[in-house]
Amino acid sequence: MLAGKRILLVISGGIAAYKSLDLIRRLRERGADVRCVLTRAAREFVTPLSVGTLSRNRVHDDLFDLTAEHEIGHIRLARDCDIVVVAPATANILASMAQGFAGDLATTVLLATDRPVLAAPAMNHVMWASPATVANIETLRTRGVSFVGPETGELAEGEIGAGRMSEPLAIVAAIEKRLSADAPLAGRRAIVTSGPTYEPIDPVRFIANRSSGKQGHAIAAALAALGAQTTLVAGPTRLADPPGCRVVHVETAQQMLAASLGALPADVAVCAAAVADWRPANPGNAKLKKTEGAGPPAIALAENPDILATLARHAQRPRLVVGFAAETENLLAYAAAKRRRKGCDWIVANDVGEGTGTFGGDANRVHVIDAAGTESWDAMAKDEVARRLAARIALALAGAA
Ligand code: CTP
Repeated sequence: MLAGKRILLVISGGIAAYKSLDLIRRLRERGADVRCVLTRAAREFVTPLSVGTLSRNRVHDDLFDLTAEHEIGHIRLARDCDIVVVAPATANILASMAQGFAGDLATTVLLATDRPVLAAPAMNHVMWASPATVANIETLRTRGVSFVGPETGELAEGEIGAGRMSEPLAIVAAIEKRLSADAPLAGRRAIVTSGPTYEPIDPVRFIANRSSGKQGHAIAAALAALGAQTTLVAGPTRLADPPGCRVVHVETAQQMLAASLGALPADVAVCAAAVADWRPANPGNAKLKKTEGAGPPAIALAENPDILATLARHAQRPRLVVGFAAETENLLAYAAAKRRRKGCDWIVANDVGEGTGTFGGDANRVHVIDAAGTESWDAMAKDEVARRLAARIALALAGAA
């Protein structure tokens, strides 16, 4: 659920900052992109080098960094993320946040952000219980800031009490919870088919096509990033499993159909796979041999099940069924006819003709055809097509809810 999420981590100056290094690692393991802002005091506890190495991103620690300021850096930092996490959050930074101070990069970003903010307080137990901190926490809570911890236990100075920063895994869980509450597809289930299918002729030969699976895999990742519980039914591709999805690997159209039906019920199905229309009717158990003088063998074909049409007409039909139409001519007319014939709600039409570079390439130019008409999108990266399509799906499901 954190895959593809952009997390801005503000590290303020407390001994618990060492745990933030592990937090960065845990977040990255889950596929999140982590950017860090260090306060001046934080630099006394952890170095920009260690934070930058673990996050694999540039560390921001100076409000007047001219290159960043050239692009109004602090505003971009504040908004270009899915959540701002303050860990550790010292009494000082919580007071600054409550008061709206913007004396350094960290507090400026916190004042300028319009994203959800989660804080993991860490301080001495007397400071945590002080009326000033209690009032600041109350103020921040009423403004929508969420908190994780602090925990009770032995504190750095050897005293026992409440003030210890939560462990990195507890902070990860709190981030996931906060993000899923805001995720537009939280609680929705999605099925995506992707890639080609391999239809065996004999144990070593098969019929296949040039689909790379890039578009389908990107759609699965984009739906998961919006919070959908996503099953990706993937034909053979060279791609890594996209983060945040349950992936069922298949080879043939029949296996793809079984895996797709096995993932029902779902709210949305996106059939992006280039399923082979026909399969050898009687695949041999032994390798076909070339017999002198016999000529090439005739391979009888059988029609494969249509996964899209089956899902669209199923008793447990997903509320939204989306198909793709890969055409080399008469794109819009063929695609619109396909939408009706297959009984799906939307068809995403793309031209895969020679010279378009769509098959195997990274970019795509698509037209989304639904009952209301045709929406033509500019050429863009397949990842971007995926994000837009996922956002359109979220909107449609929200409207239909
Ligand atoms: N599709 C499917 N199962 C099949 C064939 C196609 O689920 N056996 C889906 C594809 O995933 C895609 C849509 O149907 O979403 C259209 O695929 P396409 O290959 O363009 O359509 P065909 O039905 O094969 O039509 P044609 O080959 O005549 O263009």
